[in-house]
Amino acid sequence: MAGRLFAAQIAGGPRPAWTDLYAPRRLPSAREAGQLVKFQAAVAKHFVGDRLRTSHVDLVNDISPSSGAVVRLQGKWWAAYRDEMGHASALSACCTHLGCLVQFNDAEQLWECPCHGSRFATDGSVLHGPATRPLESREVPGAKD
Ligand code: FES
Repeated sequence: MAGRLFAAQIAGGPRPAWTDLYAPRRLPSAREAGQLVKFQAAVAKHFVGDRLRTSHVDLVNDISPSSGAVVRLQGKWWAAYRDEMGHASALSACCTHLGCLVQFNDAEQLWECPCHGSRFATDGSVLHGPATRPLESREVPGAKD
């Protein structure tokens, strides 16, 4: 289909009717536009709402072993993790794709972004895009603002 579409666009002239469905400049249908608006509203809700929600822990030391939490410390959002041995590590909680705050997935022991689905290992490395850069590593903070 792609070959036929490109050939039709290059050659010009009459095209099969179905090529309009795949035209890069086509306007979305009302149904598609509604879904797009709904999706973007959910992203905006996470981008703003997750920053307004208070953390369920106040200090990195409050995080249980094999768990993670987003903590607001020193005016920044931290993705803090404590491994099964109790060793704490910290990353920036801002997703490197477009800046939503990541959330910890306890079942899979990884950070994931609710906005577009990027996933990061506990060391911040990218497991799944659209993000392509790792979460920024940080020193473990000792005290809350
Ligand atoms: S902002 Fe995180 S995946 Fe898009």
